[in-house]
Amino acid sequence: MDTPVIDQTKLESFLMRAVGDLSAGYGGVMVSLGGKLGLYKAMAGAGPLSPRELAARAGCVERYVSEWLNAQAAGGYVEYHAASETYELSPEQAVVLADEDSPVYIPNAWNVPASMWFDEDKAIDAFRTGNGVAWGDHHGRLYCGVASFYRNAYRGSLLPEWLPALDGVVAQLAAGIAVADVGCGYGHSTLLMAQAFPKSRFHGFDTHAGSIDEAKRLAADAGVAARVTFDTARAVDYPDRGYGLICFFDCLHDLGDPVAAARHAAEVLAPGGTVMLVEPFANDRVEDNISPVARLYYSASTTLCCAHAVSEGGHLVLGAQAGEARLAEVFRKAGFTHFRRAAQTPFNLILEVRR
Ligand SMILES: C[S@@+](CC[C@H](N)C(=O)[O-])C[C@H]1O[C@@H](n2cnc3c(N)ncnc32)[C@H](O)[C@@H]1O
Repeated sequence: MDTPVIDQTKLESFLMRAVGDLSAGYGGVMVSLGGKLGLYKAMAGAGPLSPRELAARAGCVERYVSEWLNAQAAGGYVEYHAASETYELSPEQAVVLADEDSPVYIPNAWNVPASMWFDEDKAIDAFRTGNGVAWGDHHGRLYCGVASFYRNAYRGSLLPEWLPALDGVVAQLAAGIAVADVGCGYGHSTLLMAQAFPKSRFHGFDTHAGSIDEAKRLAADAGVAARVTFDTARAVDYPDRGYGLICFFDCLHDLGDPVAAARHAAEVLAPGGTVMLVEPFANDRVEDNISPVARLYYSASTTLCCAHAVSEGGHLVLGAQAGEARLAEVFRKAGFTHFRRAAQTPFNLILEVRR
């Protein structure tokens, strides 16, 4: 075999890229610490702070805070003022790092790669054996991480953009219909809709008992438990209540048999009802999915989504970057005739499906 010719410029450029990614991985641990220790919150709106001042505000020890701040400054996560040796969180950085109610709050999302690291041995085994890994068999940090990541999008877009983009659905919700939220996880999507539409009734279903327990707790906290039920049930056999709206939020591609789930939806959908399919944003071809967002989704898909679908029999393992054409085919096979892209964001496709 000929020795490959190494282009030094390309090598250095790729190496810097790989080192940058490694640095981001280290930085993610710092972001998670900053969120959990309240360091970003203590900096938000405070103006320039010395390490001592921040340590006092956050109830932490100065030496650690000082080193953490330098890591933040080196990564562009806080501003460093060399003349005063102080550190400052800009308003824009605060929206992403300090405000838990912001639709772009990031720190909790680092729980997802944390869980992926914990479960690396399971992934190695799955690659070698072809076995699946069920959603409920992952490290516990997965569930709060995913719920937190998607809650951002739902808070920012579900009520103002996605539901209004579906033909006639907001009027139906306002008048009062039954709604199924399939694969609801912690139920953030269910609760947002329940709070906005008091005349409708909402039913969240998920196979993961731990998530259903958390969803019930959140419903009680939100004061909507009377209008919302959460039950463990599979996407292929939750009870028929003649739903005017059936939602699949980021879960269809996780199912071992998405066509069977779509068939069940067809059976329990009321006349004139709508299926809202929310899936990770993806184009139909790999060559059009070369981006940081697609990389994130393909990676999670490898060890989480595909592994779960395989654990459920793997009749059709869509993966988290299925794209609109393959998703449409699932619903066509289940007997639906109407399939339309209603909205999109850099992270999500919102699809309207009708009989
Ligand atoms: C990526 S999470 C999304 C959770 C939630 N919809 C959200 O957007 O935050 C996928 C969810 O699908 C659930 N799930 C997987 N297989 C299922 C099945 N066969 N029936 C019902 N839910 C299922 C998982 O337990 C998990 O909570």
